[in-house]
Amino acid sequence: MEILGTGRGIPKGILTNQDLEKMVDTSDEWITTRTGIKKRRICSQEETWTLLATEASRQALEMARMSPEELDLIIAATFTPDYRLPSGACLVQNELKAYKAAAFDIAAACTGFIYGLVIAEKFIKDNPHTKALVIGAEVLSAVTNWEDRSTCVLFGDGAGAAVVAAGNHQGGVLASYIGSDPRVWDLLCVPGGGSLHPPFKPGVAKEEYFVKMKGNEVFKYAIKYMEEAARIVLKRAGFEARDVDWLIPHQANIRIINMVAKKLGIPLEKVIVNIDEYGNTSAATIPIALDEAVRDGKIKKGDLVLLDAFGGGFTYGAILLKW
Ligand code: ACO
Repeated sequence: MEILGTGRGIPKGILTNQDLEKMVDTSDEWITTRTGIKKRRICSQEETWTLLATEASRQALEMARMSPEELDLIIAATFTPDYRLPSGACLVQNELKAYKAAAFDIAAACTGFIYGLVIAEKFIKDNPHTKALVIGAEVLSAVTNWEDRSTCVLFGDGAGAAVVAAGNHQGGVLASYIGSDPRVWDLLCVPGGGSLHPPFKPGVAKEEYFVKMKGNEVFKYAIKYMEEAARIVLKRAGFEARDVDWLIPHQANIRIINMVAKKLGIPLEKVIVNIDEYGNTSAATIPIALDEAVRDGKIKKGDLVLLDAFGGGFTYGAILLKW
């Protein structure tokens, strides 16, 4: 399976660390040194999950020189689509008029884009004519507690997408791996809003409807599992970390990114980082970073690219591909 096109949908509104200093007890210095984030994008009233995801998808289709009617499959990785029902993928399908496709969402938090690519790969293996669109998109501002300084400085909104198909050159996905460890799922969750604590259930505090995270504990798992997933795909494909041209890690924290790169032995010049611009956009970080790196001409044909993610669940996964 090859990636034939990429795209991104980015909200216009920018929320800087200085803006956050006026909202909660924090500082640009704390946020920058602890996370690497300088600003993040936040949706306005008019900018919806579907709008961002559709923009990213149109760009990816254009790069792939494919029309929406050719799509057989639309997979959206998200936990913040516009509605609980229908899925975000169906709404993008409607916008694109891609009526031939099957469409569904997957819930794998920040690892969702990698899970989505792995699922698409299976469909393509099953039928090599399959053309798929994989989206990673989030409006995290909707599930962020803007009074909680330990989480609100981290998250942003955005969307990325990739068009994938069997391809015809000796490249594409060389190895992939997905895993999950649910034993400490409650270190990172949104307790309210599901069927256990539906909206407006008496006795459920407002804060329960937002992302809750024990950041310093999640931190350790993120490094452990991102390193593990990367090593598994490198081994499966018969490569060493030194062969990697570009590492595109999930952008949750610059310290996590630096430590994973260090543990793997990948120099920082080979690591794509845009967390300073966008913060953590969950399932969207990797496809946005991939699209930027492709359009900036950083990633060139033949390059070995390693995608590596970790998120709520906990979920984790990696993909090694030849561009
Ligand atoms: N501004 C100033 N001080 C703050 C802020 C803030 N925004 N937030 C927390 N602090 C304080 C804390 O209260 C604490 O103070 P204390 O020592 O007086 O108690 C101190 O800073 C240190 O807090 P820690 O939580 O230990 O800080 P840490 O260095 O761990 O950084 C962070 C926190 C950035 C959240 C980090 O732990 C992290 O990135 N964790 C991993 C996140 C991640 O990978 N998530 C997974 C993907 S996200 C997804 O799936 C949606």
